[in-house]
Amino acid sequence: MLMQDQTHTVLCVVGARPNFMKIAPIMRALHAHGGLRPRLLHTGQHYDDDMKRSFFEQLSIPQPDVDLGVGSGSHAVQTAEVMRRFEPVLDSENPDVVLVVGDVNSTIACALVAVKKQVPVVHVEAGLRSFDRSMPEEINRVLTDQISDVLFTTERSAKINLVHEGVAPERIHFVGNVMIDTLLHHVERAIPAAHTLQDYGNTALEPYGVVTLHRPSNVDDPHMLRQLLEVLRQASDRLPLVFPLHPRTRARIEEAGLLRMLDTPRISITRPLGYLEMLGIMVRATLVLTDSGGIQEETTALGVPCLTLRENTERPITVEQGTNTVVGTDPQRIYRAFTDIIEDGGKAGCVPELWDGKAAQRIATTLSAWLAARAAQDQQVPSKRKVNI
Ligand code: UD1
Repeated sequence: MLMQDQTHTVLCVVGARPNFMKIAPIMRALHAHGGLRPRLLHTGQHYDDDMKRSFFEQLSIPQPDVDLGVGSGSHAVQTAEVMRRFEPVLDSENPDVVLVVGDVNSTIACALVAVKKQVPVVHVEAGLRSFDRSMPEEINRVLTDQISDVLFTTERSAKINLVHEGVAPERIHFVGNVMIDTLLHHVERAIPAAHTLQDYGNTALEPYGVVTLHRPSNVDDPHMLRQLLEVLRQASDRLPLVFPLHPRTRARIEEAGLLRMLDTPRISITRPLGYLEMLGIMVRATLVLTDSGGIQEETTALGVPCLTLRENTERPITVEQGTNTVVGTDPQRIYRAFTDIIEDGGKAGCVPELWDGKAAQRIATTLSAWLAARAAQDQQVPSKRKVNI
């Protein structure tokens, strides 16, 4: 039998909440594509039910074949622990390729183990750059891209960044945005905001804004955190706010003794929401204030104005074409941009190229062709690959 006819095993890695929305359509597309055998590995970086279980259920992600159960820790401890636990699994799974998504610690940890074992690495969402190396995610992105064999991008600027860093253009494939595949697949099933907010004693909130904050640069410094909470409190006098609290953010607010600043009926604090709840809240929002990467893209796809409370974005297309404005963290600037949107409606924006719900299918097709070509090459030149180091 020819190698091209063989089934190729793709070991897909997830670790943290934003990975789940990305992997769901990829698992579906790989399953549907003949000749590919997807396996799912969860590192356990995010482990709380709020941060994990509901996403698997709502997005119909298959139960992981392997769960490394690493949990939290410093960056070094978390990354090292994923690497330590991943290595023997990689040996026993013996995949043809390891597929990683996004920019979290699990992404770089698994990519690094794979490349050192000479297992090819596929990176989905490659080439995004904030050019801010104080962001842990930026380090993860740059390093993962350098050691990946196949790089799938969400916007055209990513290829420019990658080529500039010396990545061979033929490795780069512009396929669109798998996060938006998930959004389009589920938007009709989004849970209405009124239903979700009922659980928090708030049913008649519309119109409202949504807030998410979790970046270390915004929440780990008590002074910065206080400033941001102050401007949110001020903004809530103009528009009620819904604020799902990330565990890191809740912990920092409690440690800094700032919880009372959110004690107003104009701000609805919730637990981290499930995917369908969050989508239902965002789709009806007047605007979103966030420091998340994924939410900048989701609001652009939904046409909801977004204010990004960071000094930069690695997703420039959301500003150039979408509804996103990067406002930084200066309270006055945030408040001015906020009132501008309330009074004038904010940017209209359009949906970027190839954010059409078919990115995962393009990934499956391209990856399958790449694996077949590689297998054919191996047949011609006996390979030294898969030597265990
Ligand atoms: C991680 C990602 C970030 C992503 C974010 C989404 C990295 C470097 N960062 O940040 O890019 O945007 O996920 O949430 O990988 N915690 C819990 N329960 C959990 C998980 C975390 O309580 O299930 C708490 C722990 O106190 C932990 C803290 O949250 O120490 C931070 O978790 P961690 O995985 O280190 O990073 P995130 O801030 O979530």
